[in-house]
Formats: sequence, C-alpha cells, structure tokens
Amino acid sequence: MDMNDSVKRASEMATELRHELHLHPELPWCEVETTKKVAAKLAELGVPVIKMGFKGTQCGLIAEIKGAKPGPVLMVRADIDALPVTENEDLPYRSQCDGVMHACGHDAHTAVLTGVAQVLKEHQDEICGSVRLLFQPAEEAGPGSGAPAVVADGALEGVDAIIGEHVQSMQEAGTIGWKKGPFMASADTWDIVIHGKGGHGSRPHSSVNPMLCAAALVHALTAIVPQETNALYPTVVGIGAIKAGEARNVIPDTCTMCGTVRCSNMDERAAMPGRFERIVKGTAAAWNCTADLNYQMVYPVTVNDDDLTQWVLDVTKAEGLGDRLVEREFAMGSEDFSYYGEKVPAAYINLGMGTDAPHHSPGFHVDDAVIELGVKLMSALALDYGKSHPKA
Ligand code: NI
Repeated sequence: MDMNDSVKRASEMATELRHELHLHPELPWCEVETTKKVAAKLAELGVPVIKMGFKGTQCGLIAEIKGAKPGPVLMVRADIDALPVTENEDLPYRSQCDGVMHACGHDAHTAVLTGVAQVLKEHQDEICGSVRLLFQPAEEAGPGSGAPAVVADGALEGVDAIIGEHVQSMQEAGTIGWKKGPFMASADTWDIVIHGKGGHGSRPHSSVNPMLCAAALVHALTAIVPQETNALYPTVVGIGAIKAGEARNVIPDTCTMCGTVRCSNMDERAAMPGRFERIVKGTAAAWNCTADLNYQMVYPVTVNDDDLTQWVLDVTKAEGLGDRLVEREFAMGSEDFSYYGEKVPAAYINLGMGTDAPHHSPGFHVDDAVIELGVKLMSALALDYGKSHPKA
C-alpha cells in the first residue's frame, strides 16, 4: 500500500471524525462518548483496544498495533478533552453542547491519532516492535488531570519512549515546532488563609487586620523572583485573587489569597514550597496573624529528551518536511504530557495552523489542513521508531 495514499485516505477519515467530535465536546473526566466513538472507529479498523478507561472511569483508552518483527514499544499520545467555553464561531459543526467547546484543538489530536491508527494498520508488517496509541482524558483538569492517572494505572509499563503533538494557532501554518530540553513551564497552585481578629473598624488596636498581612505578602511573594530564583531560569509567581471584608467599618477575621507558580527549572520548582512556607509563616507572625498554606505541585516542567527530539528532526527531514521545522522558544504555559517525560524519554512538538484566535478563546478554530500534516508526521515517526531503535 502506497504511503501517500494511506495518509491521504486516513486524513479524510480523521477530518470527518474531528468535525463529529467538535459537535459533541466533553469536559475532563466526562469523555465517555468521545472514548466510545474512538473505540468504534478502531474496531472498524481492526485495531485492538488493550485498556479501556482510566482511574476507574470509561474515559480514554489505549490501543496497540504489534509489528511483525521484535523491537521497542513507542507510545503516541493524544488528549481528548474539551473546555468550559461557549463557542462563538459559526461553523456547520459548531458545538451542540452549551458552554462546552473544543477550544484547544484536542478534537484534532484525537482525530490525528485515529488517522495514525489507520495508516499503521495498513503498514503493520513494517513495524518493528509495537506502537501504543494513548487517547488520554482530562489534560485540562489541573490537579487530578489525566496523565498522572494514566501513569498510576501502569500504562507506561514496557514503554520505551513517548511522543505527542499539539496544534498551535499562533504558529505559522504548516510548520512543525520543536525544542530540545525544557519546553513548557511547570504549573503549581497555592492557597493561603490568613487568620487575624475581626472587630469594629473604628478600633483597629483591638483587632488584627488580616488584610495588612496580605498586603505584605503581595510584596514578599512577588519578590521571590528574581531575589531568590536564578534570573537565568524564567519563573512566575502570580497572584490571582485576594478576598476579604464586606463593609467599610468592619475588620474581617480572615483574608484568603491564591495564585499560580510557573517554573522552567526543576530545582527552582522543588525549592518553591519551602520558600512559600518560610515567607507566609514569617510574614504572618510579623503581622500578629497565623496563616494556613496549601501549596500543590501540579504539572511538572515539560522536558523534551535531546536524543529523541533529534530523532524527530531526522525523521521529519527524511520525510521531506525539513523546511517546515521551526525551533520554538520556551513557553510559560503548561502541559500534563510533562508527567510522561518524568518516566520515559519524551518528545512533544507543535503543529502550526496560523489561525488568529488564541487557544481557550470562544473564537478558537482548527485549520483542517493540520490534520494531514499530523497524520503524515506522526505515522512516519511511529513506523520509524522500531527501525532506528532496535531492541531484541
Ligand atoms: Ni491543549
């Protein structure tokens, strides 16, 4: 079977599937129908599903295509979830679910990986080792997202490497974005409850106003960068909300604050909870308050393995797509693909669409031309991995 022909037909199937998925988006950990649709398509293609659902749900699945010859196991990952966004695009396949939309292009990722399944099935005898296709739920969930659940379910056992792609509206159409080493930031969350002592606004000396402590914390926490972090590593300490008080003449009992921390370096990230602990407790004591801190490590830094990324570049060039390659800068956004990179060599790439609306916005849209590029490149990588990484 001619490869170009396979890719073309699989891309047509995948484009149709994407429109169908776009009509019926599902939020993180609700992707039951999406999973069923993918499973049905895989059954039609004769590709066996080896795991259905993660974390005791019916969301997400893994399919496996075994080659005729021995070799390593490559996992190819697509995320499948949508977002709580109301679509404002007037498309024939506009979302039918009020307030839910594929506003990040995960419908395209799901479709591309299903297209890859079709191509690989038609070229199964060329595969050395096997290719596992991971349809991952709940990438957008933040704490409790899909990737750590996939890891906890043991789905990476026997996997030698993992690759994944994400469409990019802001990257030039038809280009392939790559980067070795750290690619995207970690994303952690923090919540603080400051306890003072409420009272009458006219008698501050008989109360302890927790808002003064919060004001001091705004300065102390935002001084972590770059007074404590290495200025060579991009880091963000962000404050998202401060809430306290209701009336002009009442001093409240408590004040709450929350925010995000983004790091590009894992040592800097590891030091953050300790820095917060010291500053929050110390500042609270200085203002005669007490404070509870809840610092949660959520998404790690997304790190691309150097050798695996070089292999992606080599295969891309061999496919005649070398002129599409663009080296990307480090991004402060995050991805739960990062969890896989902590366990096995990982490579994550971006496929450019050159569409104007940003990801997660109501006007976000996928350029369907990206589907064929994704199917072609991810299939080529999946077919090559076992040949260039022999394993008895
Ligand atoms: Ni996304």
